[in-house]
Amino acid sequence: MILRRREPADLARIVGWIPDGEALYLFAASSLDWPLTASQLGALDEIEGRTAWVLADESNPDVPVGHADLTISGDACRIGRVIVAPERRGERLGSALVLRLLEKARDLGASRLDLLVIEGNVPALRTYHSLGFTERQQSDYPGIIAMTIDLTAA
Ligand SMILES: CC(C)(COP(=O)(O)OP(=O)(O)OC[C@H]1O[C@@H](n2cnc3c(N)ncnc32)[C@H](O)[C@@H]1OP(=O)(O)O)[C@@H](O)C(=O)NCCC(=O)NCCS
Repeated sequence: MILRRREPADLARIVGWIPDGEALYLFAASSLDWPLTASQLGALDEIEGRTAWVLADESNPDVPVGHADLTISGDACRIGRVIVAPERRGERLGSALVLRLLEKARDLGASRLDLLVIEGNVPALRTYHSLGFTERQQSDYPGIIAMTIDLTAA
C-alpha cells in the first residue's frame, strides 16, 4: 500500500463512500454537513496545520482506498475523517492507514496523536485499540470517545 497526499480529483470518490447522514456522522462527527459535497470536504484542508492523505494500492496509485487527515498543533497531532472504501473493508486497511499517519505525526515532531470516535463504532475502536491508542479519561463531547497514543514511547 502507498500513502499519498489527497488530490482534488480524489474528492468525489471519497464522498461516494458516504451514503447517508448517519455514515457522515461516523466519518466526521459534526465537522461536515449532509449532503456532503466534494468542495465541503476539500475546504476542510484550509485549516491551519492540516494535510489530507489517501491510501492506495501500489498497482493503482490513482485510486484511493482509504482517507484521513492529520492536523498538527503545538506538540500534538490529531487524526480525523478516517475512512476505508466500503468494498475494501475487512482487510484492516484502516490500521495500515493510521499506522502510516502515526509515522507522519512522529516525523512532524508530535509527541502524541489524538483522535475522536463515536461511541459504538466497533470497527474503528478495534482498529485504534489494536494500534495502541487508549481512551482518555474525559471527552469534551457526549457520545464521543477521545483516544490518544504517546509517540515518544519506544
Ligand atoms: C473504521 C474503518 C476505517 C475500519 O476499516 P477496516 O480497516 O476495513 O476494518 P476491518 O473491517 O478490517 O475491522 C477492524 C476490526 O474491527 C472488527 N470489526 C469490523 N466490523 C465489525 C463489526 N461489525 N462488529 C464487530 N467487530 C467488527 C474486525 O474484526 C477487526 O478486528 P480485529 O482486528 O480485532 O480482528 C471502516 O470501518 C470505515 O471506514 N468505517 C466508516 C467510517 C468510520 O467509521 N470512520 C472512523 C472515524 S473515527
